[in-house]
Amino acid sequence: MLKSKYRTLILLLLSMAFIGQSNSADDSKKIDIPDSAFKCLIELTASGTFFVDNLLGNLEATLQVANSSSGGKFPPGSLVTLVPNEVMIKHREGWNPGTNDWEFFLLNISAEGANIAARGTEEVGNQAGSCFGCHQLARPEWDLVCGINHGCAPLPFTREQIQGVQNSDPRCSKEN
Ligand code: HEC
Repeated sequence: MLKSKYRTLILLLLSMAFIGQSNSADDSKKIDIPDSAFKCLIELTASGTFFVDNLLGNLEATLQVANSSSGGKFPPGSLVTLVPNEVMIKHREGWNPGTNDWEFFLLNISAEGANIAARGTEEVGNQAGSCFGCHQLARPEWDLVCGINHGCAPLPFTREQIQGVQNSDPRCSKEN
């Protein structure tokens, strides 16, 4: 009796360690992300409904996937954003296979710039739920990018409402 309880405990601890490990990101594959990486939306490059950048200077490769009509795998350094305070950034391959190496960011935005309110993988979300929870519904060839017809449930906003938010990024009014 006691012995089997002990065994259950060991199994529980082992499975927790395993789960912990499967969620832990590999730091050697992590890209350094300063607050200055989060620029005014309309200074970025538009791709369809959203905006992109590449923090490793490889914008061409990011645009090639973002503009593709058949999807693809975004290269490391890719930054994708739809509304000013929500951003996805791709780390190097192997950082966190569970999210295709994407990290999700929720930002505080003001005329002074951006700082990070929350960042991470499956655990980060907004009022509507987990970023990953929604984005994982994109069909595999779209690399967690929802677009307008990649398999995610649509947002309850019109295109005009989304564009309104994009055009009112408080960071853009700053002289630079
Ligand atoms: C309720 C589901 C849902 C949640 C929660 C959600 N998203 Fe999205 N997201 C979407 C959908 C759907 C789109 C595409 C919307 C469109 O353009 O019409 C989208 C678009 C985006 C885009 C533009 C690229 C793309 O996938 O089309 C980024 C970047 C993004 N979301 C990041 C985030 C981040 C970061 C979070 C968490 C802080 C988050 N999202 C939470 C559903 C969601």
